Amino acid sequence: MCGIVGAVGFISPKEYVFKGLKMLDYRGYDSAGIAYADNGIKIYKDVGSVEHLLTIVPETINSNIMIGHTRWATHGAPTKLNTHPHLSFHKHICLVHNGVIENFKELRSFLIEKGYSFYGETDTEIIANLIEYYYLQNEDVIETIKVVKPLIKGSYAFVFFTSDDPNTLYVLKKASPLVIGLGKGFNLVASDASPMIDYTNEFIELDDGEFGYVNKEDAVIFNKKGQKIIKDPISKDVELISHDLKGYPHYMLKEIEEIDEVVKRAISIYHEDNEYQFDSKLLKELREADHVMFLGCGTSYHASLVGGRILENCNNIPTTEYIASEWAYHPVVPGKKPFAILISQSGETADLIHCLKIIKEKNVPTLLITNTAGSTLSRGCTYTVLLHAGVEVSVASTKAYAAQVAILALLSGALNKNDKMVMDLKATIDVIDSIKNNLKKQIEQIAEEIKDKDHVFFLGRSFDYFLSLEASLKLKEISYIHSEAYPGGELKHGPIALISEGLPVIIFITDPNTANSMRSNVEEVKSRGAKVYIVSTKSLSKKGDALVVDDYAYFLSGVAISSIAFYLAYYVSLKKGYNVDKPRNLAKSVTVE
Ligand code: F6R
Repeated sequence: MCGIVGAVGFISPKEYVFKGLKMLDYRGYDSAGIAYADNGIKIYKDVGSVEHLLTIVPETINSNIMIGHTRWATHGAPTKLNTHPHLSFHKHICLVHNGVIENFKELRSFLIEKGYSFYGETDTEIIANLIEYYYLQNEDVIETIKVVKPLIKGSYAFVFFTSDDPNTLYVLKKASPLVIGLGKGFNLVASDASPMIDYTNEFIELDDGEFGYVNKEDAVIFNKKGQKIIKDPISKDVELISHDLKGYPHYMLKEIEEIDEVVKRAISIYHEDNEYQFDSKLLKELREADHVMFLGCGTSYHASLVGGRILENCNNIPTTEYIASEWAYHPVVPGKKPFAILISQSGETADLIHCLKIIKEKNVPTLLITNTAGSTLSRGCTYTVLLHAGVEVSVASTKAYAAQVAILALLSGALNKNDKMVMDLKATIDVIDSIKNNLKKQIEQIAEEIKDKDHVFFLGRSFDYFLSLEASLKLKEISYIHSEAYPGGELKHGPIALISEGLPVIIFITDPNTANSMRSNVEEVKSRGAKVYIVSTKSLSKKGDALVVDDYAYFLSGVAISSIAFYLAYYVSLKKGYNVDKPRNLAKSVTVE
């Protein structure tokens, strides 16, 4: 979602701001803009890429303050007018925002009554004007923030400066990330630390409700009650986003091909020297829990379905998996001694942040499984287990999914001190490698055959069903083909009505417990004219299966053969000529609910 960068005190902040905007482009965006002070406020913005923005800004910018923004449209279409930064009606406040203002319509009506009018449709423009309205009355920005903050409902990270003081950036934050970077003779802000790491390794992370200002010498912070506070700077182990494709044409392909390394790394970190390496307090709390609830969104939710079944089957711990945005409407915590596992690649997903607040009120201990150390969710959870998957740039999650499943399996192994789990995981690496080395051509051929279809079905049962869900999500998100995933057993309860001549149905048969029933499903869809592609393991395979892989522990499909699903989506998207790494309407880090 939207990315924010800002600098004050630099002789020329342009280099930092543009580099920073590029670093944040993993968040997804449709338009970008910058603003600075040079004899008044100057704003350059447009729909399109940061590279495009660079072509429309002056080569030399004479200013020591600048804010920049990448926008992922929520309120108002992606147009130039709606692009941030936004300038207030009387041109005093220039502001960028990440988040969603829930009561912007009421605030808009209030401002219209006061004589304001607006050029765009965004909630952000309203806030720039709300700040200006009160600023013009009391002429003190910090006092204005104190007045305005309680009036705003929703999530936000705001950074702004005023026309009266081109030497100060103001910041306020609630439920959207914002970090200050402390320099010598300059200070920086950004949505996360990654854009700043080349300039400083001293950061102040704002907590919800905090606000303040930075100028070239100081960073002054106020707590949510409006009292000035001292926050000790922290240093961060920021993993820089590598823009090096290492010879690959796309990040998605590179990241799929890293899955074997990611699994090896997970094993070596969490089973070092033949000992499981999870926090002993975490393991104790999990063992004492009478119910483990999982929360996640999208791909991470799919990983939780696998992890939940593994914990139930291997550790005898009852689990329930919830889609985070849905659970928040019915926030029941199952069990008398519950434990919550949140799964989030980015650690910044707004739906999960919302759930975490509710869970904390219920005093449930929490574990976050994430790829992002120091993320908002990580700071809020009792425990964090890192995926160590390396930064995932492609919007479609691939290696992070495999890492999530691998780490959930390792956690299960650690809970009952079962080294067999490690052996099973190690065995998946050969399967992953053999797909990479031997099956890509065949997968590409299937992609060729389905690329012009309007609908695709995926079928499986149990663990194969969980993989079908992930395969279907991946295909639809980057190829824009409508696809459905169904448990084989549900077919006859409705979806079979949709099976028609030539419909591609991709069927996973890798689980010995469900293989026979799946073979019946194969006959059911074949007899209705479907074009069937079967993915099976050697011992369960039959003549005519499209892709056959070596056997592995059936509950580890998400690790062993998820790459088949990822390659398939990749090749279909590629053949359709789409932007594989940045599919339309999607963002890597979903920081709005
Ligand atoms: C799909 C995908 C998304 C994310 C979801 C949750 O390829 O990446 O479905 O899994 O938006 O994101 P995180 O894991 O960052 O909470």
